[in-house]
Amino acid sequence: MTGRIAVIGLGPGSPEQVTPEAARLVAEGQEFFGYAPYLDRLNLRPDQVSNASDNREELDRASAALKRAAEGKNVCVVSGGDPGVFAMAAAVCEAIEAGPAEWRDIDLVVVPGVTAMLAVAARIGAPLGHDFCAISLSDNLKPWEVIEARLEAVARAGFVIALYNPISRARPWQLGKAFENLRRILPGTTPVILGRAAGRPDERMAVMRLAEADAARADMATCVIIGSPETRIIERGERGPLVYTPRFLVAEAVR
Ligand SMILES: C[S@@+](CC[C@H](N)C(=O)[O-])C[C@H]1O[C@@H](n2cnc3c(N)ncnc32)[C@H](O)[C@@H]1O
Repeated sequence: MTGRIAVIGLGPGSPEQVTPEAARLVAEGQEFFGYAPYLDRLNLRPDQVSNASDNREELDRASAALKRAAEGKNVCVVSGGDPGVFAMAAAVCEAIEAGPAEWRDIDLVVVPGVTAMLAVAARIGAPLGHDFCAISLSDNLKPWEVIEARLEAVARAGFVIALYNPISRARPWQLGKAFENLRRILPGTTPVILGRAAGRPDERMAVMRLAEADAARADMATCVIIGSPETRIIERGERGPLVYTPRFLVAEAVR
């Protein structure tokens, strides 16, 4: 008998940003796989089994979860934000493609969640109001040269850029180098948002200009949004700034 595997996005951290669909599938789950801080958000019942693993063990975690689903269990794999954005849904698909044929018969459900860039953008206005892209700055799974080339291409094309995985203890210099490269392409006045821990009690939002952007103010819980030359800051005194990218683009702005 084959079971089911649900790959569930838990949103950025606020319980109010967990979708009803995610909550229902968590309530139905028998066995849970994920990074410990995400499993800790779940308040599982005593009859629900939790299997925590390290953040860098995604493929092993996906395979272990598929194995249990193939044995008939109702399995949940949890991710922060959306499971399809730099997260477990792709790892589960990779495992299915490489794994035994019977894994293709498992009922797979991917449950979307609010991804970090949307949670950060909503806190600060509408920086993603025009064309944008998302890039992971982690060079664990792709070469740094590819990241630099993609950043340059999208900055030259006028996209707003959301950077995931901007910095960590093992990757301390990449964000500073990305800012340095982007300063050669974009105006120094381009707005930059450092959105940390959106939706969590320790949330912190900072707005600055690219010329002053300081990588030391970001950490691994930060999503960095770099505006396009059209992105604007509306100062509002004590309410804090609004950052937005207008929906329209005049022809002269195309480089
Ligand atoms: C491995 S990626 C996972 C992304 C996740 N699947 C999502 O959709 O948000 C981890 C990165 O997401 C970003 N991130 C996750 N949660 C965040 C939050 N609450 N606030 C800001 N950034 C967050 C950070 O850039 C972090 O380094």
